Amino acid sequence: MIKTVKTTPYADQKMGTAGLRKKTRTASQENYIENFLQSIFNTIPNLNEKSFLVGGDGRYYNKIAIQKIIKIAAANGVKKLYVGKDCLVSTPAGSHIILENHLDGGFVLSASHNPGGIDGDFGIKYATSSGGQCQPSESAAIFEQTQNITEYRISDCPDFDLTKLGTFYCENTEIEVIDPYVDYIKLMESIFDFKKIKKLLTSDFRFIFDAMNGVTGPYAKKIFEEILGAPKGTVAHGTPLEDFGGLHPDPNLIYAKHLVDIMYSDTAPDFAAANDGDGDRNMILGKKFFVSPSDCLAVLTDNYKLIPAYKNGIYGVAKSAATSLAVKHVAEKLGIGYYEVPTGWKYFINLMNSNRITFCGEESFGAGASYIREKDGIWATLFWLSIIAETGKSVKEIVLHHWQKYGRNYYLRNDFEGIPQDIADKLMADLENSLPSLVGKTFDGYTVSEAYPFIYHDPVDKTSTKNGLIIHFSDGSRIVYRLSGTGTNGATLRTYIERYVTDKLDEEPDEMLKDLSHISRIISDVTARTGKEQPDIIT
Ligand code: G1P
Ligand code: ZN
Repeated sequence: MIKTVKTTPYADQKMGTAGLRKKTRTASQENYIENFLQSIFNTIPNLNEKSFLVGGDGRYYNKIAIQKIIKIAAANGVKKLYVGKDCLVSTPAGSHIILENHLDGGFVLSASHNPGGIDGDFGIKYATSSGGQCQPSESAAIFEQTQNITEYRISDCPDFDLTKLGTFYCENTEIEVIDPYVDYIKLMESIFDFKKIKKLLTSDFRFIFDAMNGVTGPYAKKIFEEILGAPKGTVAHGTPLEDFGGLHPDPNLIYAKHLVDIMYSDTAPDFAAANDGDGDRNMILGKKFFVSPSDCLAVLTDNYKLIPAYKNGIYGVAKSAATSLAVKHVAEKLGIGYYEVPTGWKYFINLMNSNRITFCGEESFGAGASYIREKDGIWATLFWLSIIAETGKSVKEIVLHHWQKYGRNYYLRNDFEGIPQDIADKLMADLENSLPSLVGKTFDGYTVSEAYPFIYHDPVDKTSTKNGLIIHFSDGSRIVYRLSGTGTNGATLRTYIERYVTDKLDEEPDEMLKDLSHISRIISDVTARTGKEQPDIIT
């Protein structure tokens, strides 16, 4: 039976950089998920012809929320749902499943790299038929629904067993529990030379893949251990856990410190990669060596010819404005298109659909290509393994060689977290107003050459989006400021700092960027406004 339930709006259901992301305790309030889902369905016509994917990264509350999604979808007359077995699907595999099966969209339940559990975070990434997350106009329409909602529809059918493959019905909606791995693995086999990688992984080459107890564990065990022959145990933290086993599943130098310690020890293996909770982020490490994500995009782009799927040529490359300019040097040398977009993978979608780009990436540990519409941690790992297999070089040698060829963009991101929203908004507004007056001023020897709010004009649908404030210095250095759109605790000010040099290639970023970091704090006046002398997190 279908019930219609009266409800009242929640004021805070606006999607951020990557879907709706909330404290689990917020998301588990009465009618919270129900309101949000009904609001989405209210914006989609002809639901009886529409099919969607449902899955998630294994975090706490996903299983409860997925039962609700099934019943709400059924009550709204959705034609079919494809549900990942055990409620699992990685963000990249989800994008592939949507595209390959021509689905109308999907719900990947994940707060990405944020911690899980009842005191952690919960999230819903809503993708459309593009295979990527919905565009700002679509999320605005959904938000409007959430603010006016008065009722939702839900089936009162009992919970379903989602641990076995098979098909059943909820009301008239077909529910198919699918294998979330098999098609994605075939896709990876179609891009990379698995034989070459297998030769490497069955030699004395030593490799750790750290899934951080997120969703990529089962994907990685199948790909690296079962198919590519890496020894059992290559995949660490390989079982998806509701609280990520207490890990903060964000693959960076801080939250994956356990892996960094191994890689900086004298017995370090040759190569390590870590992925985040939902499998779209990656961190790459060599023996005593860290590859910054901005450099990672540049190195992958420069080596495209080594990969079977790309060897005949690539379209251009894109990065978020906050990402370092390293890949720009490569694009110029290769003579391919180069684009800068606002932060968030959804901004790459039009560029991919119009064949303007093949590769794209963000400084926030994201790299990917146009075979799907999300970033992809396993793809990045396979790409690095391919470069190592083809060149016989270590990670450090590959990157040093890159810097010798193109120069190095030293890069750091400083995050000031938990700032009251009004203080953060005022800081950004005042900073924006002061930009024109900064031009020509010199700070510690760095002269401001340009300062402007970043406004992106999408070449495909001609929309403009504002995201961040950019300051250029006459030596090629840059500072970018923006507020995070994924936090769940007050506002986070992100300050992105970079400096380009063609000598001094193997120095410490902290040292090379000390003065610019200081200048970034002077210009934003962050200490006086927030009481913070130093950033909370430096990556
Ligand atoms: C952060 C990253 C951004 C990424 C997003 C989702 O968003 O900075 O690059 O696309 O997470 O993974 P932010 O919190 O900065 O809005
Ligand atoms: Zn993620």
